[in-house]
Amino acid sequence: MGKDVIIACDFDSAEKTLSFLDLFRDRKPFVKIGMELFYAEGPDMVRRIKERGHRIFLDLKLHDIPNTVKKAMASLSRLDVDMCNVHASGTSAMMKAALEGLTRPDGSRPILIAVTQLTSTDQTALEDELLIKEPMKDVVMSYARNAKSAGLDGVVCSPLEAAAVHCACGEDFLTVTPGVRFADGDKGDQKRVMTPAQANEAGSDYIVVGRPITAAADPVAAYERCIKEFVS
Ligand code: C5P
Repeated sequence: MGKDVIIACDFDSAEKTLSFLDLFRDRKPFVKIGMELFYAEGPDMVRRIKERGHRIFLDLKLHDIPNTVKKAMASLSRLDVDMCNVHASGTSAMMKAALEGLTRPDGSRPILIAVTQLTSTDQTALEDELLIKEPMKDVVMSYARNAKSAGLDGVVCSPLEAAAVHCACGEDFLTVTPGVRFADGDKGDQKRVMTPAQANEAGSDYIVVGRPITAAADPVAAYERCIKEFVS
């Protein structure tokens, strides 16, 4: 599995998404479809983007009882997505059930990764609301190890955590990292960011890039710049 740039298609309609993707004539980028677009347009959006030749990371972050997640994952697998995810906090039993549900009769399946702790959760919320007293970094690494033991392929994490995740879970364990900005770009609401080149050096396997590409004056040029900095 090679390194790649995944464009976060955080649009609220099929029209906006497809006219954005129409810009890409030479290369079909790997795209991320999140809750906003999936809940607005449904599974048909996935089929339409697949038909155009894109690989898809369906970022729905499943978290429910193992049997429900297993059946939901079977539906996503039939949709032929390339990557999907669950919350590691759903437990190892849930992650194993997700893998079972995803596996097709021929043994193939989409890549399955886990969200460890959301970056919107801070140490105070971890301790006061979730009653987890350990330091965030230890929690993230422990959840990553659980995902690895359950048989998952990797985790979503900050590029700043990619090296530690690889150290704990092996070089083959994928790190899919948002929070990427160009050196001369606007950070927006992302606080701890890395450039595509730095994310590459940190060991990220996939970078997830939204606004630096979707809001650029020339999205194709911005995408090509990401590829150049990250992959080559
Ligand atoms: O526009 P931007 O590059 O910030 O988009 C990053 C994408 O990655 C968004 O879809 C965002 O929801 C997602 N994401 C993130 N941080 C996480 C998990 C997901 O920015 N910890």
